Amino acid sequence: MKTLSGTDLSVQIGALRLKNPLIAASGCFGYGVEYAEAVDLSTLGGVAVKGLFLKEREGHPPERIVETPSGMLNAIGLQGIGVHRFIREKLPELRQLRATVIVNICGSTLDEYVELARILSDAEGVAALELNISCPNIKEGGITFGCSLHGTFDVVSAVKKVTPLPVIPKLTPNVTDVASFARASEEAGADAVSLVNTFLAMAIDVETRRPKLSNIVGGLSGPAIRPIAVRMVYECRRAVKIPVIGMGGIASARDMLEFIIAGATAVQVGTANFVDPFIWGKLLAGVTDYVRRHNIARISDLVGTIDTTSREKQWISS
Ligand SMILES: Cc1cc2nc3c(=O)[nH]c(=O)nc-3n(C[C@H](O)[C@H](O)[C@H](O)COP(=O)(O)O)c2cc1C
Repeated sequence: MKTLSGTDLSVQIGALRLKNPLIAASGCFGYGVEYAEAVDLSTLGGVAVKGLFLKEREGHPPERIVETPSGMLNAIGLQGIGVHRFIREKLPELRQLRATVIVNICGSTLDEYVELARILSDAEGVAALELNISCPNIKEGGITFGCSLHGTFDVVSAVKKVTPLPVIPKLTPNVTDVASFARASEEAGADAVSLVNTFLAMAIDVETRRPKLSNIVGGLSGPAIRPIAVRMVYECRRAVKIPVIGMGGIASARDMLEFIIAGATAVQVGTANFVDPFIWGKLLAGVTDYVRRHNIARISDLVGTIDTTSREKQWISS
């Protein structure tokens, strides 16, 4: 789809065409409908909704959020309304708002992921499934798949068998070699990978000597993690042929472009949305301005165009 300026911002994620590369990150945009007064959801490339289990969950007790330098620490514990209420109460409105809906699914067992995928494949208005195998602040399921190459392979291939929807495993950065997890996902048939989820972290109140979060540990997000996330996207892009969806601390069009140049076909924006719910128009305007200034006809032409040649030579000779 071309914008008024003639720039093609559309990108391809498996069989899914997004009108632009900008996706609201799961857990930072509710179920999308809550933001409809601030943002025209149909102008976004996609909306990744809050992680859903089969059943409703209360999540962790407070404190669940702590501010940190250039970041945010959360241990919400995947509070959510469950898949059936989502389909009844949120999906019809999302359809009406013409949102491209990516449903983030979480399971305590492999069977739960499969069951969720089956149910959502029959629901009208779901564009893709993002497999949350990377939430660092719950004990059961999820991350145990995401921290094991076999677990990642098994959950992706099991879900692929039961759904025609594009399947996007969301990778954890809390591993030594994230690219090997992207490779395991690709071998299992994933249509794309998204990364990063939050970094396992903690903060302590030194007066009371108590952890600031009720869950003791939580997930770090926001600008503090961006350079690490960019590096991980770069590594994954070199390791796989499927599209990489990048995120971690994006707060401006420049940040978004950094991920795209490193190798992200699309990006997600999470924490910045809490700071500025009107950020979306600014990001789109900034990217449009950049591609126009650089005479780039299609945003997809920019993906992975980082030029490391002279840097590699410098590094070898020094
Ligand atoms: C409050 C909060 C809740 C989140 N909930 C989810 C979730 O339900 N599922 C998921 O896959 N990621 C979840 N995430 C992770 C984000 O989607 C994103 O991967 C991460 O925050 C890094 O991006 P950012 O720095 O732009 O926020 C959550 C993050 C935050 C801050």
